[in-house]
Amino acid sequence: MSVLSGKKILLGISAGIAAYKTPFLIRLLVKAGAEVQVVMTPATKDFVTPLTLATLSKKPVFSSFFNEDDENATWNSHVDLALWADYLLFAPLTANTLAKMAQGIADNLLMAVYLSAKCPIYFAPAMDLDMYKHPTTKKNIDILKSFKHTFIPPDKGELASGLIGEGRMAEPEAIIKFLEQSIEKTLPLFGKKVLITAGPTYEAIDPVRFIGNHSSGKMGVALAEVAASLGASVTLIIGPSAIHTKNPQINRIDVVSANDMFQACSMPFKTTDIAILAAAVADYKPAQVATQKIKKKDTSLHIDLTPTIDILATLGQQKTNQILVGFALETENELQNAKDKLKRKNLDFIVLNSLQDKGAGFKADTNKITIISANNKIKNFPLKEKELVAKDIFIEIIDKCHA
Ligand code: CTP
Repeated sequence: MSVLSGKKILLGISAGIAAYKTPFLIRLLVKAGAEVQVVMTPATKDFVTPLTLATLSKKPVFSSFFNEDDENATWNSHVDLALWADYLLFAPLTANTLAKMAQGIADNLLMAVYLSAKCPIYFAPAMDLDMYKHPTTKKNIDILKSFKHTFIPPDKGELASGLIGEGRMAEPEAIIKFLEQSIEKTLPLFGKKVLITAGPTYEAIDPVRFIGNHSSGKMGVALAEVAASLGASVTLIIGPSAIHTKNPQINRIDVVSANDMFQACSMPFKTTDIAILAAAVADYKPAQVATQKIKKKDTSLHIDLTPTIDILATLGQQKTNQILVGFALETENELQNAKDKLKRKNLDFIVLNSLQDKGAGFKADTNKITIISANNKIKNFPLKEKELVAKDIFIEIIDKCHA
């Protein structure tokens, strides 16, 4: 999934021939999952029609402070537009609009939006070779860079004038790649490896029966999705679960038993930065797995159970620099039990959820947690969607990464 997914991008188009590429650019942004709002300078309408851009972006296109066709002449608030955007992208950026940005001249809606924006700004200049080489242009690009705006360099090649050289707007595909790579680097978990366990484990009794539990895997999958959206490279080791992972970047490994889960965790744990063990691992497994289906008899059946490996405690012993987080699902004496587990398993955090809380625990889409840290800080959170719970957990972890 692209980092642009769900992002609000205000595309500022100025009047150059490269504006003919903007329908393709909008298509790619929308395909990446971004919401696109186009604001164009009035003269841009000579190069590309607002109707085309509005159709592709699925939003009306703005070019002036008032909607001319509207008899009530509604006001397009430059401030609202600027504050709506997560990112401003100027493509193509002409020499004229570049100069206005460098000088702060707000003589059209797009420039007023620019001056009101607080979000990161990207600019992809496009102009003829000699205009691009002109010292004023170079100086204005440097001014924009000094404002911490990000420069998307133009390509070299044949220009609309027939001249050959530098000045062609970067191709839409290249702009998308540039944006994705640049945004990824700003994400708080960029470059971090995250290992997550999720779901139940099934411990075989015979070829058709198992010991399991009601865990759905929702909490662990939410953690994996949030970690990936924060830029981490994620390995999710998940027991039998019907929950799908949306982000194709997540390395999902499906396992069945506690032993499979442990085997799958062992190698990645060595190089991981953060491990969150949210799986509801079976504590016991049948000492012997019958090779044939156990037949029904009139007498009672006894199955000898033996403990499974405690994955979290084992990783706690092997821990070097990893941040290790466990879950504790308790039904009584919650806080004390969770604190004991935190110590016993050598964790940095334990996430406590109580089955006494309505809407918390297995199967629900919501959870209500308390996060206890190794230095005994206790934070209570209200009942929330599991995705928001996952975000709260990562806020604590990211704080610790930066401590
Ligand atoms: N866990 C694990 N391997 C096990 C059992 C538990 O990795 N064999 C992990 C869980 O993923 C969770 C934490 O340990 O992060 C606590 O699990 P929980 O079932 O609450 O605790 P247990 O250690 O099993 O203790 P008890 O069942 O007695 O509460």
